[in-house]
Order: sequence, then C-alpha cells, then structure tokens
Amino acid sequence: MQTSSSSSSILLNLDIFDTESIHVLPNSNLSITFRFLRPGDQSEVKILCRDWFPIEYPDKWYDDIVYDKKYFALAVCDVCTQQIIGLIVANILPIENCNREDQQILNRIFSLTASACYILILGVVKEYRRQGLANLLLENLLNTLYRHETCKAVYLHVLHSNKQAIQFYQSNLFQYRTHLPYYYLIKGEHLDAYCFVRYINGGYPPFTLTDFATNAWSYLTQIKPCRLLNTIRYFLTDKFLFTDYYKRTSTYRQISRIV
Ligand SMILES: CC(C)(COP(=O)(O)OP(=O)(O)OC[C@H]1O[C@@H](n2cnc3c(N)ncnc32)[C@H](O)[C@@H]1OP(=O)(O)O)[C@@H](O)C(=O)NCCC(=O)NCCS
Repeated sequence: MQTSSSSSSILLNLDIFDTESIHVLPNSNLSITFRFLRPGDQSEVKILCRDWFPIEYPDKWYDDIVYDKKYFALAVCDVCTQQIIGLIVANILPIENCNREDQQILNRIFSLTASACYILILGVVKEYRRQGLANLLLENLLNTLYRHETCKAVYLHVLHSNKQAIQFYQSNLFQYRTHLPYYYLIKGEHLDAYCFVRYINGGYPPFTLTDFATNAWSYLTQIKPCRLLNTIRYFLTDKFLFTDYYKRTSTYRQISRIV
C-alpha cells in the first residue's frame, strides 16, 4: 500500500505481454483475462481501492497509474462481466531514487547499478479471493521483471495488522525486512508498517549479525582471507554508515505527505 510517489522510474518493456488470451481457473471455472489499465478505468479503480485500502488517494494518482507508462498497472477481469476483479500496480526505481528507508533492502554492493520494483497496489475483489488471482497478478509482474536483470528486488509496505496480505506475501517468498514505526496516518491514527521484500535476479539483503557469523565461519573454513575481509567491510559499512537517522527523518516527512 503506497503512501507517497517517487520519480525517476525505469520503463518496463511490455511488448512481450499477452493480454488477449482467456484463462480458466481450474478450481472455479472462472474465465479471466488480463489487460493493462486504460483511460476511463479511473473511477472503477477508485471504487476498488476505497474498498481495499484505508488510505484515500488523490484523483491525480488515479490518472497517473492509468496514463503514465512508468507504471506496470495490470488488471484481471471477469470475462462474463468485463469488470476488473483484481489489480497490481508497480514501478521500477533505481535504488538511489527509492525512499531512504527503502534503500536498505538491498546489499550495498548493488547500490550503484541496481533497481528495485515497488508494489504500490495489489488487491482482489472480496468475492474472488482465495482463487489464486493475486498469485497470477504477481507472477505476471515477476515474469516481466526477470527480463530486467538489474532489478534485484520487489518490495512493498503493508499495514502491520494486515494479516491476510502478510500471509499472502510470505507464501510468495517475500521476507520481512523492516519495521517502519508510525508509517501510515489513517483516520488520525499513526500506524506501523512492515516492509517485505522478495529478492530476484541475484539480489540479496544487507548482512545481519547472523549472516556475518555464518559467513565468517564458512569463509574461515575455506581459508579465503580476502573474502572474509570483504565481508567484514560490507558488514561494517551497512551497520555504521547507513544509520537509522535517515530512516526516521524520512518516515516522519512521509507521514506529513499522507492524505
Ligand atoms: C491479499 C490479497 C491481495 C490476496 O488475494 P487473493 O487473490 O485472495 O490471494 P491468492 O488466492 O492468490 O492467495 C495465494 C496464497 O496467499 C495466502 N493467502 C491469501 N489470502 C489469505 C488469507 N486471507 N489468509 C491466509 N492466507 C492467505 C495463501 O497461502 C494462498 O494460497 P491458498 O489459497 O492455496 O492457501 C487479498 O486478500 C486482498 O485484496 N486484500 C485487500 C487488499 C490488500 O490488503 N492488499 C495488500 C496491500 S499491501
């Protein structure tokens, strides 16, 4: 669930995407098609988002996700009704253009060249849930991202109490990365968020103490002093140069931007 927008996105090549086929879900016999959002979808998407999320997005945001080619905005529709029954919206950003607190999702070894994909929206209409539609939307996004080798991670923010979404992401190999205190301002209440990340295309997270201990031991047993020294260097850089200060200031700044 997104709270603010970022710039400098990377355009995805969507020419390879097949939006013509009709798929039938094996368990329910539901016929579905996928298509990208198009002009005129704004009011339908607005109604869906109001139902799915406790945050009110400005009208301009709906125009943006429909018109701006930087967004991967894929809808799944019921063939019978032609209505949108699920939606995923994401965009790829160079890691240096992600919000400060999100730049910590990737190991700093990737910092100059890598990008990450942020999921702004993922939702499925209640009556259509637990049929694998969110899985399919995510799978389509991932298949597109696998062609962008510099994209090393897919990430999102989720309200700490949104158990169903957390279970969904965990079942799809997303890992808990950070706790963002007071990240959302919802109906006058400051609520925490979690950041979940799935690493792709060889991406991996910064080293933690446990990683450090494990790596140090395996490097020691393989007697590769240079690799061990590198591990220590990356660990120390992550721990001491990338401080919590940025995380907190940008979090508070972000709250003031929330509608
Ligand atoms: C989260 C959400 C998108 C899942 O959509 P969905 O189409 O029902 O998900 P899927 O059917 O693809 O579920 C795939 C797997 O995720 C897990 N999962 C999904 N919903 C779950 C739930 N309510 N409880 C427990 N596990 C769940 C299950 O492992 C499920 O596999 P299974 O059905 O074989 O057990 C949907 O519940 C939703 O739209 N929620 C409201 C919007 C929202 O919170 N979005 C996320 C914001 S970050």
